Amino acid sequence: MQRNLLIVYHSQSGRTESMAHAVHEGASDPLLEGIEPRMLRASAAGPDDLLWAHGLLIGTPENFGYMSGAMKDFFDRTFYPVEGRIQSLPYAMFISAGNDGTGAVRAIRRIANGYPLQEIQEPIIARGDVTPEVLERCRELGMTLAAGLEAGIY
Ligand SMILES: Cc1cc2nc3c(=O)[nH]c(=O)nc-3n(C[C@H](O)[C@H](O)[C@H](O)COP(=O)(O)O)c2cc1C
Repeated sequence: MQRNLLIVYHSQSGRTESMAHAVHEGASDPLLEGIEPRMLRASAAGPDDLLWAHGLLIGTPENFGYMSGAMKDFFDRTFYPVEGRIQSLPYAMFISAGNDGTGAVRAIRRIANGYPLQEIQEPIIARGDVTPEVLERCRELGMTLAAGLEAGIY
């Protein structure tokens, strides 16, 4: 059975985007059969993508102690159209921040409860430059959710 994994992200200066590419790479591991990853910028993603997905990975910079405006817009545009139509979608997040990141995590968790989304692992928060170690953790995150979907754990 094919399982679909949606990666939605926003990035202004490229850090979150590099994390999203690593997440996508992990989810696209050739050992994983039957997983279809789809990576979209938040501005290009909509309710149909969420309804298509069996799992969701969310990436955003922290702006003003919150998620980016584009990511909030994604939630604003999709909440009512999918309400009652998705059942506890497994998700995790990756955050790029100058020095904090916790405000974005808190905000996404609060909104995610309403969909409802089920957080499957602690967020990855990259502070400052995105290091090779962070990218490796992002690859692992993509692979973990994809492998869990493939195995029917989620
Ligand atoms: C308008 C704006 C607000 C920001 N606010 C925060 C913040 O509240 N906390 C923080 O840790 N970093 C903050 N930053 C820094 C970004 O989170 C950081 O540069 C991040 O790596 C950018 O990711 P991107 O390259 O994917 O756009 C802010 C950056 C901008 C442009």
